[in-house]
Amino acid sequence: MRRLRSSVRLNPPPVLFVSGVETRVASKTSFGTIRTMSSITIDTINQNVKDMQYAVRGAIVAKAGLIELDLASNPTKYPFDKIVMCNIGNPQSLGQKPITFYRQVLALCDFPEMLDTPEAASLFPDDVRRKARDILANMKGGTGAYSESKGVAFLRKMVADGIEKRDGHPCDIEDLWLTDGASVGCHYLMKTLIRDMNDAVLVPIPQYPLYSATLALYGGTLLPYYLQEDKEWGLDVAELKSQTDKGAGLSHPTRSAVRDCPYVTDN
Ligand SMILES: Cc1ncc(COP(=O)(O)O)c(C=O)c1O
Repeated sequence: MRRLRSSVRLNPPPVLFVSGVETRVASKTSFGTIRTMSSITIDTINQNVKDMQYAVRGAIVAKAGLIELDLASNPTKYPFDKIVMCNIGNPQSLGQKPITFYRQVLALCDFPEMLDTPEAASLFPDDVRRKARDILANMKGGTGAYSESKGVAFLRKMVADGIEKRDGHPCDIEDLWLTDGASVGCHYLMKTLIRDMNDAVLVPIPQYPLYSATLALYGGTLLPYYLQEDKEWGLDVAELKSQTDKGAGLSHPTRSAVRDCPYVTDN
């Protein structure tokens, strides 16, 4: 491959500086001076973004990160010697091993040439190699290629079969969208459902903050329904009804309800 001639200078991408007071998008010119676009400030960005709160990634976690760094160079400064992050369910950070099967299948799908090497037979169990071959045979272009917008049909079929087996209810792959994580799906839905603050969504409390945050982002109204701690975090129908009645007071009825496992922790 020919290298770029050294006289060709590519500008680095824009940088966002957050100073607490002012936010600037700046890019370094080839002469090393900073060019600013001062029309983009903390006062001119989307207010909904500023209103979003995401506690599990918020001030307490940021502070814990600073203390963790400080601990590394000052091990006796605090009355403890390590920090266990409980802000998100992250078993791997606590030493739990990831599920090997998925990683092995993914490794072979990402590097299909390996499938036909003699080493593959000793490195990967039969069922892993079978699953990788099956997926690759049904996935045009393999991993990394653009797929149908809803996700690869063959993989959606696998998910639909799993749902049917679990729930005993038919599942049409045309009703399934695969997203990279639950948050992306939640954003799609909130963006589609919320027209303005008269659209409300029922959210169980305690919640994972994704739901209130996306509601704030898209400008809807949060109708919290509190789960009953003394009834094993069960649902209180009267509480649900009172929140639904509040939703009925808005000019649009309640648009949606988040039915989520209670997000209860002891931290
Ligand atoms: C209840 C709940 N909803 C949504 C999410 C976000 O899921 P994802 O990381 O797949 O976007 C989490 C993550 O911990 C969660 O616990």
